[in-house]
Amino acid sequence: MALPLPFRPQRFREAPEAERGRGDGIEIRRAQAEDVPAILELSEEAAVYSMSPLRPSDPQRARQIRRQDMASLKFQVRDPQMAIFVARTPEGRVVGEVVAKLDGRDFLSDQPQAWIFELAVHPDFWRQGIGGRLLYAVECAAREAGLECVGLSVTCANERANRFYDSLGYQDERRLLLKKLTPNLGP
Ligand SMILES: CC(C)(COP(=O)(O)OP(=O)(O)OC[C@H]1O[C@@H](n2cnc3c(N)ncnc32)[C@H](O)[C@@H]1OP(=O)(O)O)[C@@H](O)C(=O)NCCC(=O)NCCS
Repeated sequence: MALPLPFRPQRFREAPEAERGRGDGIEIRRAQAEDVPAILELSEEAAVYSMSPLRPSDPQRARQIRRQDMASLKFQVRDPQMAIFVARTPEGRVVGEVVAKLDGRDFLSDQPQAWIFELAVHPDFWRQGIGGRLLYAVECAAREAGLECVGLSVTCANERANRFYDSLGYQDERRLLLKKLTPNLGP
């Protein structure tokens, strides 16, 4: 399904040819069944960026868990309550993906909201506006569904992603806290 214009941040449309990154030829479109393997691959590779330094660190295990979490993706791409988009090169290579649901609710206010489970751009294509365009696609879908906000959680140690979300207007709402318990409990 084609998304309504304006679809890209103004700065990309106005950038002179010489300043445009490779991301400029990228198409953002709703994911289809054929995109599922590429989404899974990107998502698995990106799992390591969300690992917490406060937890046991096993990238292979993180990838495996991510793959299990995404097991229902092949059904979700047909679910109208999901907003799943891919970024594709003109050659049809999937270089970015976002998976969000449109029927979330804030647990205390009960306000309906979209919730982003997963967002990844292939590292060769970072800083070309693709992540921002994928988020924008979810935001458009959320607005079309009558929603007023989009939520997500991000690992504190993932500084790149935190800077990315900060720059795109996402605000801190709640913090997830962790205390590592030692034999002698105390602060
Ligand atoms: C986070 C991620 C999705 C960003 O994708 P991207 O395509 O590189 O992001 P964009 O190019 O659209 O960046 C948009 C804006 O975000 C900010 N930004 C993005 N990466 C940044 C960085 N490393 N440092 C500072 N600002 C950054 C910039 O303001 C940027 O605009 P600009 O390039 O015009 O200055 C990508 O780095 C990624 O896939 N990371 C690994 C997976 C991951 O961490 N996913 C998020 C899990 S919650």
